Amino acid sequence: MSSKLAIEVDGLRFQNPFVIGSGPPSTNAKIMNKAFAAGWGGVVAKTTALTDTEVVNVQPRYGKLRSKSRDNVGFQNIELISDAPFEKWEDWFKEVKDTHPEGVLIGSIMESYDKGRWQEVAARSVEAGCDALELNFSCPHGHPESGMGAAMGQDPAQVREVTAWVCEAVNVPVWAKMTPNITDITRPALAAREGGAAGVSAINTILSCIGINLKTLRPLPTVEGHSTFGGYSYLAVKPIALRMVAQIAQAAPGFSISGIGGVTSSTDAIEHILVGASTVQSCTGPMLQGMKMVSELIEGTEAFLDEHGFDSISDIVGKSLPFFTTHHHLVELQQEKRRRKEAEKRFCDSARSFFDCAKLGHLGIRKLGRSVRNDGEVVRALKSLEGRAFPNGARVTVRDVDYSSLSFEDQIKTNLDTDVMVGPHGAGLMHNIFMPDRAALVELFIDGSSANRHFHNLARWQGRSYYGSAFSNPVRAQQLVSVVAGAVSSLDLSKPY
Ligand SMILES: Cc1cc2nc3c(=O)[nH]c(=O)nc-3n(C[C@H](O)[C@H](O)[C@H](O)COP(=O)(O)O)c2cc1C
Repeated sequence: MSSKLAIEVDGLRFQNPFVIGSGPPSTNAKIMNKAFAAGWGGVVAKTTALTDTEVVNVQPRYGKLRSKSRDNVGFQNIELISDAPFEKWEDWFKEVKDTHPEGVLIGSIMESYDKGRWQEVAARSVEAGCDALELNFSCPHGHPESGMGAAMGQDPAQVREVTAWVCEAVNVPVWAKMTPNITDITRPALAAREGGAAGVSAINTILSCIGINLKTLRPLPTVEGHSTFGGYSYLAVKPIALRMVAQIAQAAPGFSISGIGGVTSSTDAIEHILVGASTVQSCTGPMLQGMKMVSELIEGTEAFLDEHGFDSISDIVGKSLPFFTTHHHLVELQQEKRRRKEAEKRFCDSARSFFDCAKLGHLGIRKLGRSVRNDGEVVRALKSLEGRAFPNGARVTVRDVDYSSLSFEDQIKTNLDTDVMVGPHGAGLMHNIFMPDRAALVELFIDGSSANRHFHNLARWQGRSYYGSAFSNPVRAQQLVSVVAGAVSSLDLSKPY
């Protein structure tokens, strides 16, 4: 088992982040053992409740949405929680934990709005061996009619209160499972955090009608000529799930998220992790593809990490979040790109243009020369700026260039796609001479040079904004990073060069 995929979440050690979602692939001890044997890092058991809770399932209770080429795209169920007595579940939890002590076993519980019942089902589940609990605030059909499941999850005050009851009764991590059938999923998620949850699982199924039988005009799945809205899952729900996981991650940084919805392959799982999930559940996936689907999840994710040079799955949790912004900002970014392109063209057309302008459009920071004494440390520290979302849309690329080894023409070229210079005395001279059309220029000198005063004057004379700062050598890398970050943020990129 690859250590790259191992991850610790809320104190739980997962061999890999792939977890069976609550449902048919976790409906008894035998099938849960099968999941662990196949290599899943965790299992969320099928939801259970105290034995006197009425659970009467109907047939048929599943429906599929297929593409024109007959591929499964979406899946709907009107299945209730487990109809096995809770005492049976206590035996099953013990049996699974004894057989697979290495696997993370998460009990899923649902109850009516009653403190005693929630605390009892929670405490007995943990007593029987569950490593963590998932609170089902999200089943969209059947139980909401009596105030349970999604009916609770749609009321943040109840989510907060019930989560607090459970957290008071047990000392294992508690995840609240969110319903997507709500306008703003961050409200119940934040309420769960206030109630003491360690994290949330998102999402449960989306309330849906899978189709209508055109011969009988009856909705599907049809039970005695009738149907009820059910829960939609599988690939088709992934875009909605990714949006909701990202929204929770943005609203509650540091709060763990178990991403669920439409995970059919490693690509889907990686996407969930990139938007903020630290574990990923799949329910309809193993139902339709079998438990062995985890092999592709593992292999595909390992290949992805290797390809991008990531050492650990933890390194990619939320990695794509900085790239979500407002539509307004997208418009600004595009306008800025257009302006830059026009400026580039103007510049290329000008008399000074004797070199390739293709890369003008991005912001770069360059460490110049070999004279910086803590060389590697400085570059590593500056690299931490890469990928950071600056409010003005600036993007930082750090290139470690031995300036003195470059030809004159290459020095000019290197200057051309750089707005921020970090380097020893004289580094910015070329920049000033050859880039007078730049709106903003940041120069950081790493040898205590006073030449920046000269460049300041030059930039002022050219009507550009200028930021200059001197550092003594060796450099205090973290100080440099914060100065550069501040300087980059202060650049007015809306002005043409
Ligand atoms: C047939 C079926 C039964 C389910 N039963 C439960 C359940 O008992 N408790 C629960 O929390 N979620 C249940 N779910 C929801 C899944 O755990 C999961 O949140 C949802 O299906 C979305 O993930 P997926 O696209 O990987 O299936 C069920 C889903 C299906 C398809």
